Amino acid sequence: MAHSENLRSFLLFFKEALLHPWSAGTFFPSSQHLAKAMARPVPIDGTGLVVEVGAGTGAVTRALLGSGIQPERLVIVERSPVLAASLRARFPQLRIVQGDARNIGWFLRQHSRIDAIVSSVPLRSLPYAESESIVEHWRAVLPVETLIIQYTYALYGPPRHLTNGFVQLSSEITWRNLPPARILTLRCLAPDSVPASSEEQLEAQRVTASGG
Ligand SMILES: C[S@@+](CC[C@H](N)C(=O)[O-])C[C@H]1O[C@@H](n2cnc3c(N)ncnc32)[C@H](O)[C@@H]1O
Repeated sequence: MAHSENLRSFLLFFKEALLHPWSAGTFFPSSQHLAKAMARPVPIDGTGLVVEVGAGTGAVTRALLGSGIQPERLVIVERSPVLAASLRARFPQLRIVQGDARNIGWFLRQHSRIDAIVSSVPLRSLPYAESESIVEHWRAVLPVETLIIQYTYALYGPPRHLTNGFVQLSSEITWRNLPPARILTLRCLAPDSVPASSEEQLEAQRVTASGG
């Protein structure tokens, strides 16, 4: 039963990946090793929401539930209507929203707190401007201290989009995934502690040097 369910969602995901490769970011759902590693940093005793974005087949969703996160705290966001419908059938106890990672501010109007964003959204394969606008939205709406857990297939180097406004807490490679992946855990910073961009720093130096 579980095997046929897994096979069905794998085939569904594979078909979606053929139709929308940039949006899927991969042809393979997350392994259970990657999914468990994504769930590990989420505080299970928190009271705020845990918002999973880009849930795909629900591999990470299952790991979050398995780690002890209460179903009432979980909100699942998936952009593909086909995958969102499949997630609703697999997890009838959860709030599954067919929507965009750029709309999570909406949940904050209903709940005062989001403890963590758990993201499989493929920031490196989506068009650059789209990834930037997702991260810009998170920077604008997420409360200070919110955790962001994001995986990437880039095993080394700084995150491409999650820079200004976030501090990286950890980076862990999971080899047992196809392809191997790296899990980044970051925390949202207060706006006044966000380091200025290099252009702003240069401008400030110019003003100071000219006595302005
Ligand atoms: C790498 S796959 C998901 C892998 C997932 N962990 C699994 O095991 O199935 C990325 C998912 O993000 C979804 N996605 C892409 N862009 C999105 C966006 N802007 N908002 C919400 N979901 C998005 C895709 O539809 C896809 O299902």
